[in-house]
Amino acid sequence: MDFKQQIAKQLSGLTGLEYDTVISAVETPPDPALGDLAFPCFPLARIMRKSPAAIAAELAEKIDRPEFVERIETAGGYLNFFYSRGGYAKAQLKEFFEAGENYGKSNEGDGKTVLVEFSSPNIAKPFHIGHLFSTALGNSLEKIYSFLGYKTVKINHLGDWGTQFGKLISAYKRWGDPKVIENDPIKELLKLYVRFHEEAKENPELDDEAREYFRLLEQGDEDTTSLWKYFREISLVEFKRVYDMLNISFDSYNGESFYSDKMDEVVEILKEKGLLVESEGAMVVDLSEENMPPCMILKSNGTTIYATRDIAAALYRHRTYDFYKNIYVVGMPQELHFKQIFSVVEKMCGDWAKNCVHVGFGLVKFPDKKLSTRDGDVVFLEDVLKESVSKTRGIMQESSPDLENPDETAEKVGIGAVLYTFLKNNREKDIIFSWDTMLDFEGESGPYVQYSYARGRSILRRSGEDFQCADFSLLTSDEEYELIKHISSYGDAVATAAAKNEPFYVNRYVTTLAKLFNKFYNVSPILKDGVEPELKKARLALVSTATIIIKSALGLLGIETVEKM
Ligand code: ARG
Repeated sequence: MDFKQQIAKQLSGLTGLEYDTVISAVETPPDPALGDLAFPCFPLARIMRKSPAAIAAELAEKIDRPEFVERIETAGGYLNFFYSRGGYAKAQLKEFFEAGENYGKSNEGDGKTVLVEFSSPNIAKPFHIGHLFSTALGNSLEKIYSFLGYKTVKINHLGDWGTQFGKLISAYKRWGDPKVIENDPIKELLKLYVRFHEEAKENPELDDEAREYFRLLEQGDEDTTSLWKYFREISLVEFKRVYDMLNISFDSYNGESFYSDKMDEVVEILKEKGLLVESEGAMVVDLSEENMPPCMILKSNGTTIYATRDIAAALYRHRTYDFYKNIYVVGMPQELHFKQIFSVVEKMCGDWAKNCVHVGFGLVKFPDKKLSTRDGDVVFLEDVLKESVSKTRGIMQESSPDLENPDETAEKVGIGAVLYTFLKNNREKDIIFSWDTMLDFEGESGPYVQYSYARGRSILRRSGEDFQCADFSLLTSDEEYELIKHISSYGDAVATAAAKNEPFYVNRYVTTLAKLFNKFYNVSPILKDGVEPELKKARLALVSTATIIIKSALGLLGIETVEKM
């Protein structure tokens, strides 16, 4: 049990307040001179009919001081707890060692299922950098929820249905060459798609033809269906190559096409509930009460759209998984879309719609180039990943020319650097992609954190000592104390990341951990001659703990560690 909890438990017993009320009232004073934890007694004054100061004094008297608390003081209606550094270090390290890799885990998710939909690229279009943002965020969120005991399901809602397939089929029939396509499927299919758009500007009949092909596809026509399948398969092969590089897998690839036969039901329910109204030939759900434009369900030619499929998907997921949360990691430009479909689902099915959450994120900018798929001017994700790996390889060639497995190391560090960049800030902020920042081994970067880990591992390898039974109470320097305190807040950081769907809390946590570890390491001799054997053991124990937590936290970001770099 963590210290705050232990203190809160006692205070709850002494005051008669609910444990939850007490724990949320206990705070960390902004000024360390006021102690390590503080309990404000003001809210008790009315209930107990005494002044806050008197209550604080009374509690200070009655409380059974735990070993890790050196002294308790009262000041201005607060009860302030000062930890004893040695006692604190001893209790914490004991706890770290008992938990090992499980440190920070919790069971808040027991019996609850969280769906994380992420990545969701579009078939026959490039997997672009925005999809990578979604992939990094979703992958991390899934790991965070699992860590907290939730059952998770990773869903890739592929964009594998819709009128664009009509366009692609039309373009393919006109200009497609299977041999050329097989060489570089997505780039070639994209070229066809772009060409279609150009030619349709001159020749609008092309659009009619495309609509007709999509209608045929929706009706299950054999020829168009087999082309569609072919596009889907060759695209998936490419996407999976990227997922392999990132070490990411999915539980479900049920994308938009999976719902193509599940939309009649949506239309039926909407009709039954009187929610479907006609508007300029199309069928829509009116959302004016919610101050939103209407949500289109059927186009005037009777075909369904993106939103219809999303509504069917929400219904399906509810039935199949009975989710606690159904998370959609999709860029901010689709915010309104999700608000609309959640509203429609709520009108159709009621309360559970509230458990659908859109987790949005900002744009990714390469200095002065906005990314788009329409005009073909795109930065391909696979190229970005490869470039990061090769640049990393170059940097490490200089700094550690004797590395045993430089390719594998560069791969993990290079990919980690990209993932780190996506998870570095509040997700709604735009990202400026800069190689210099991303691969700055001394700045706030993935490589910096990974390097701290490798540094710790190297000391442990060199020492070869057993340190589990060390006297941890020797760890009382400022650097040691700060590091131990920070390690102990790991569970809180992960829980906050889940509550806000913001992996950056874990990223910030691990970056600070690496900094504090380096600070400790730089001023605390460990393997040097003359270090007291007991102190050396205790410090090694702290190094070991720090590396375990760095690895765990990086793991939650989807970043692998390396033993040497
Ligand atoms: N395929 C879409 C795109 O690339 C993202 C899908 C988002 N998920 C959803 N359920 N609508 O923009």
